[in-house]
Amino acid sequence: MTTVEESLFLRACKRLFVERTPIWMMRQAGRYLPEYRAIREKYDFQTMYRTPELATEITLQPVRRLEVDAAILFSDILVVPEAMGLAVEFVEGKGPIFRKTVQTAEQINDLNVPDMEESLGYVLEAIRMIKAELNSAIPLIGFSGAPWTLFCYMVEGRGSKDFATARRFLFEQPGLAESLLEKITAAVTAYLSAQIAAGADAVQIFDSWAGVLAPHHYRRYSLKYIRKVIEGLRRDGQPVIVFCRGAHHSLAALVECGADVLGIDWTVDFAAAKRQVQGRVALQGNLDPAILLAGPEVIREETLAILRAAGRDPGHIFNLGHGILPTTRPDHARYLVDLVHEESQKIRAS
Ligand code: CP3
Repeated sequence: MTTVEESLFLRACKRLFVERTPIWMMRQAGRYLPEYRAIREKYDFQTMYRTPELATEITLQPVRRLEVDAAILFSDILVVPEAMGLAVEFVEGKGPIFRKTVQTAEQINDLNVPDMEESLGYVLEAIRMIKAELNSAIPLIGFSGAPWTLFCYMVEGRGSKDFATARRFLFEQPGLAESLLEKITAAVTAYLSAQIAAGADAVQIFDSWAGVLAPHHYRRYSLKYIRKVIEGLRRDGQPVIVFCRGAHHSLAALVECGADVLGIDWTVDFAAAKRQVQGRVALQGNLDPAILLAGPEVIREETLAILRAAGRDPGHIFNLGHGILPTTRPDHARYLVDLVHEESQKIRAS
């Protein structure tokens, strides 16, 4: 029996030899799956992530149907702001909405750096349940939002195309903004450490809104805090994946942030990214999620192009360049998994 340390996914994260390229998909548990929608008909999204039994079942759904090489915890990045004292609602068709936002010194002071077992114990319980159910060859990925991405939601109070309110706060009150980023960083560090202690085999930091900042601001207000999170983590060899959407301008700096794996979005040329990182970190990505909406021939052509660019070198985890779209056909997602397994094996054996 394969131990989790010998799994394709963890070996690829550590840039060790693999016979085929592992694959998982961001947002692999979600609305494109009929078995997810069946549960969603009975419960609202928050009940689903707050109930460890439901979170466990939903985490395992794509592992069963797609046979991906890793599971990702079913939860949301916004549980951290919630635990810090900002209630969030997920409104149908509108996405997340916060009743209170944070913009003053007093509001920052009022936020807690939460006690993990007390306020996020349901996540840790879900991790323990999932680990007890998972096949030992399939690692479990825990995750958190990056401090900058969480800051965006906490200041803006909702989703946005450009997070102009969050950026305005950053530039008008940089000192206050930094004190908020510090507080979020402390919470994220404790949260990811607790996930690892509960059994997560790797963790991913999602910086979904990296792309709204200029490169120099990105390094000062986001990357700096990601590095701090990684430095502060209590871990025992569990890899850290950093996925920054729209931050390819800072790839060279990202290589130095302490991540074992960098996730790249689909606007980055895989071969160029590979040349830039020089084997110093593994790469994860980066098929455009909309490719899965097209037919098998297109999926095949685009997938082969990424696999060829990755070549035989160790250190590639196949993924989409962002989350799978809710309109994706599950059979296309399954086709992608089988294709990556078969074709990468041929390339690696050649
Ligand atoms: O990858 C996985 O399968 C794990 C589950 C996961 C979810 N959200 C489930 C979810 C993960 C890793 C996330 C991360 C997340 N959440 C991010 C970062 C990654 C990214 O996509 O950029 C962000 C920005 C959020 C915040 C969030 N949660 C938004 C903006 C929304 C609404 C938009 C949407 O897709 O509906 C959510 C809701 C959400 N999170 C759903 C799921 C399955 C949909 C809930 C539903 O209505 O069933």
